[in-house]
Amino acid sequence: MFVDSHCHLNFPQYADVLDQLRADMAQSGVDRALCISTTLEEFPQVHDLAMRFDNFWATVGVHPDNEGVQEPSVDDLVSRSKLPRVVGIGETGLDYFRLGERTVADMAWQRERFRVHIRAAQQTGLPLVIHTRQASEDTLAILAEEGQGKVGGVFHCFTESQAVARAALDLGFYISFSGILTFKTAGDIREVARFVPIDRCLIETDSPYLAPMPHRGKTNSPAYVSLVAKQLAEIKGVDVEELGRITSANFEELFSLVRNL
Ligand code: NI
Repeated sequence: MFVDSHCHLNFPQYADVLDQLRADMAQSGVDRALCISTTLEEFPQVHDLAMRFDNFWATVGVHPDNEGVQEPSVDDLVSRSKLPRVVGIGETGLDYFRLGERTVADMAWQRERFRVHIRAAQQTGLPLVIHTRQASEDTLAILAEEGQGKVGGVFHCFTESQAVARAALDLGFYISFSGILTFKTAGDIREVARFVPIDRCLIETDSPYLAPMPHRGKTNSPAYVSLVAKQLAEIKGVDVEELGRITSANFEELFSLVRNL
């Protein structure tokens, strides 16, 4: 019924609990999950999950926050994306939240890495999984410039303004909401969720991070995407089964899973 469109199940905390995690998913009506790559070094493990389990898929990409890791070329991404069950490029994007001592000008390497991912998406026709934090202006500008309207994808774990959502929708992107939607303090994100058309919404957990209420602060799990669905269904004024049906169809449409089955 539900799809977790973004999770990191190769992370070490899941190594010994995968069977239980999958049983919890089934129990909560979560029938599929997309395993997101954040470095090339970890990609083999991410891909292995998608090969071992027929309701897991994988992406290939290097997260903007990862430094001191192998820097991907377009070919690195394109060649891995041709492997079976790889359905997207990312996660990629820009993050100016962790600048530390640096200025935005110092983050040219991050913008270049983002451009490499966009080029790989263009070459393969695969959707991008976008992470943007305190960098939405540059993220949108680079997508528009580099993508030239020919790339699509999803803005994951959306925490930006309605104006940014509007701009992302205008570029043809989907918007994915996480457990943040259930946090008491997230009234503004719920307003954005009200605004985004239901046929452009996805749901995710971003496991192991951002567990929804009432599990906030604990290790997240794909099963909990059902709680994100419940919250989004309330916001949209539809029942949760309908919300599950629509967001699952959106997921299939974006990642063209029919082609990959
Ligand atoms: Ni992530």
